Amino acid sequence: MSPEATALEGRIVANDLTKVFGEVKAVDGLSFSVEPGSVTGFLGPNGAGKTTTLRMILGLATPTSGTGTISGLTYAHLPHPGRTVGAVLEATSFHPGRSARNHLRVFCAAAGLPDKRADEVLEWVGLTQAARYSVRGFSLGMRQRLGLATALLGNPRVLLLDEPANGLDPEGIAWLRGLLRHFADVDGRTVLISSHVLSEVEQTVDRVVIIARGRLLYEGRLADLEGANGGVVVRTPSPEQLSGALAPLNVKVTPRADGSLGVVGATPEAVGHAAWAAHVELHELRAGSSSLEETFLRLTAEPSAPTEPGA
Ligand SMILES: Nc1ncnc2c1ncn2[C@@H]1O[C@H](COP(=O)(O)OP(=O)(O)OP(=O)(O)O)[C@@H](O)[C@H]1O
Ligand SMILES: [Mg+2]
Repeated sequence: MSPEATALEGRIVANDLTKVFGEVKAVDGLSFSVEPGSVTGFLGPNGAGKTTTLRMILGLATPTSGTGTISGLTYAHLPHPGRTVGAVLEATSFHPGRSARNHLRVFCAAAGLPDKRADEVLEWVGLTQAARYSVRGFSLGMRQRLGLATALLGNPRVLLLDEPANGLDPEGIAWLRGLLRHFADVDGRTVLISSHVLSEVEQTVDRVVIIARGRLLYEGRLADLEGANGGVVVRTPSPEQLSGALAPLNVKVTPRADGSLGVVGATPEAVGHAAWAAHVELHELRAGSSSLEETFLRLTAEPSAPTEPGA
């Protein structure tokens, strides 16, 4: 494999992806990349274009322009797509009369995998006891687990899951978190999970790609988003001196509209101590009031209509 191909191995890249449905620009010049060894949240409100983007990356929809690639190749060009990518899209349908085990065995046969692989993945997703039952009686959470089992059959390097936490109870969400973190942290796989609720995936993801109206709003570490780790607001007559004192803490310092500083990546105690040690006078020091969810809502809110003068 060439050095370029090795560098792209396991990466998902959207490059200026656009999808137009009639009058609707569902995805609008969207570019981002998803790295191996991370669980990345693909976030945006309903109708933001998440499913459409995932469908283009999976070769299920043709981009109007731009490309989506996995390990540097479009889905159609992947030599072993079933063993490279596992995906669960929303509203995945199962043959209702089939048992969970038989559903998986049909896929095993198609992919040239031994039948026993079906039982392995059923165990991973906690469906061993329900393996013989017909899918008709499955709850939404069980269907999510079966969808995940299907995605895992080919032992893929890259997992793309559309709203996987939807329908899971808190215990199911905790279980999913453990499984996905293991894939990323221990196996070094690439995991991309979509959600329209940040709080649902907040504890699972380390990186986020946030979109609204088909456009990119934020891409990066969740910890760097305002409101993560509590955030700290600090007011001082010597902002430059304070910024210098905080530099060794590896934090992100941003000036706020009211003249105070927003600090992300440290506790109020750590900021207070650094200021005290550097003899910087403080007039205010508090935990940031904006939670991650508020930041998400503010970012993805519809652009407000211009306010009338004097209103
Ligand atoms: N096949 C289609 N034909 C026409 N319009 C479509 C089609 N698929 C999606 N759209 C439109 O594209 C936009 C983005 O839809 P998409 O399903 O990608 O959003 P989403 O972010 O997945 O939303 P949700 O959180 O509700 O799942 C919406 O306005 C939707 O109505
Ligand atoms: Mg969707």
